[in-house]
Order: sequence, then structure tokens, then C-alpha cells
Amino acid sequence: MTDNIVWHMSSVTRRRRVSRNNHRSVALWFTGLSGAGKSTLANAVEEQLHGFDCRTFVLDGDNVRHGLCGDLGFTVADRAENIRRIAEVSKLFVDAGMIVMAAFISPFRKDREIARKILGLDFIEIYCKCSLSMCEKRDVKGMYAKARHGEIHNFTGISSPYEVPEQPDLVINTGEMSIASCAAEIISLLMERQVIGGVDFSARAHGANF
Ligand code: ADX
Repeated sequence: MTDNIVWHMSSVTRRRRVSRNNHRSVALWFTGLSGAGKSTLANAVEEQLHGFDCRTFVLDGDNVRHGLCGDLGFTVADRAENIRRIAEVSKLFVDAGMIVMAAFISPFRKDREIARKILGLDFIEIYCKCSLSMCEKRDVKGMYAKARHGEIHNFTGISSPYEVPEQPDLVINTGEMSIASCAAEIISLLMERQVIGGVDFSARAHGANF
């Protein structure tokens, strides 16, 4: 595939881009069942980070499947390609110096491992833990009902498996905790890992600014 293609090095490097920001660049990878709250949580975290003047972007499964991944369905092979593309796009965002949040079911361990390989140390896996019964009860988009009636095939949790992460960086109980508490846990992790940091951030995370 990459025969006869030579990588072009840009003179403005990731390091130089990041030096313009008040934070490091990473990819937060939200995985979990449909309806577990991945997108809602990613948005809440983005809102807070934006308030801290961080440079952010959310890649969301449903949105990305309208464009970049509009040619893909939900077979094992299509999901693998979906996740590979998103990991590559996330890597570009990380190179651009941003904190990117990818919210995808990403149900298969091997696909998440590929994403981890593509992103290396910049990959932070966040498992949004919420029981199938709770997701099904919420059924925000009415998809579980359709899946139960056989109107959607290969539906994660119903007719296609979800493989729980074995060693995620963080497990967030989205089934039991408020979105604000879940977001606070992620902000704490980002401080702990020194993605964001310093006295100013701590003061603001304790409620001074939002
Ligand atoms: S992934 O498995 O490839 O990571 P992705 O996160 O992009 O999935 O898309 C999931 C969204 O697509 C769900 O939130 C749901 O709204 C919709 N969807 C449609 N069909 C399916 C299906 N068969 N399984 C899971 N989600 C589906």
C-alpha cells in the first residue's frame, strides 16, 4: 500500500504545536454499549476542557458514520475498519496538539488493541460501564427495541458481543453515577497524568469557573 510513498516531514512539529497550548495532546477512547453514555460523557468532558482553554474535538460514532465511515456497516470486518480509521484520525488530532475524544462502541478487544497500537502512549482507554438492561431500558434511539424485533442485525449486546476491556485506564460507572461526577473523574485522571495541570487547573476544576 505504501510502496513509492515517502513520509513528508513538516517543519512545524507536534512538539511545537503543543508548546502553543496549556496542555498535552492525547486521545481519550470511550468504549461501551450503545446507550451507555459515551457521547454524552465525551461532550461533558469537552465542555469542561473547553472552559480550561484546551483545544479539543469529539469524534462520535453516529456522526462519523454519516461521512468518513458512511460506507461501513456493522459486520465484524466493517467495525474493524471503522475503528482503524478513527484511530488514524485521532492520531492526526494528537499530532495537531489537541485532546481528542473518540466515542465508539468499539466492542472487540482486538480492534481496540489496534487503536492502542496506532496511538501508542497517547491512547487512554475509558470503559463506560453500564449494564445491558439499563441501556435497553433507556433505549434513547429506540434501537434496542428494533434489535429485539429482529429489525437490526448484529446489534451489540443483543445479536453481537461486547467484549469488556481487561485493563482499561479508567472504568466509569455511567449506569450509576451522574454525568457531572463521571466527567470529574476523567478530569482528575487528566490531571494525574499531567495532560492538564498546574495550580490554575486545580482551582478551576474545583468549581471556580463552571
Ligand atoms: S462500532 O461498533 O463500530 O464502534 P459505532 O460506535 O461506530 O459502532 O456506532 C454505533 C452507533 O450506531 C450506535 O450508537 C447505534 O446508534 C448505531 N447502530 C446502528 N446499527 C447498529 C448495530 N448493529 N450495532 C450497534 N450499533 C448500531
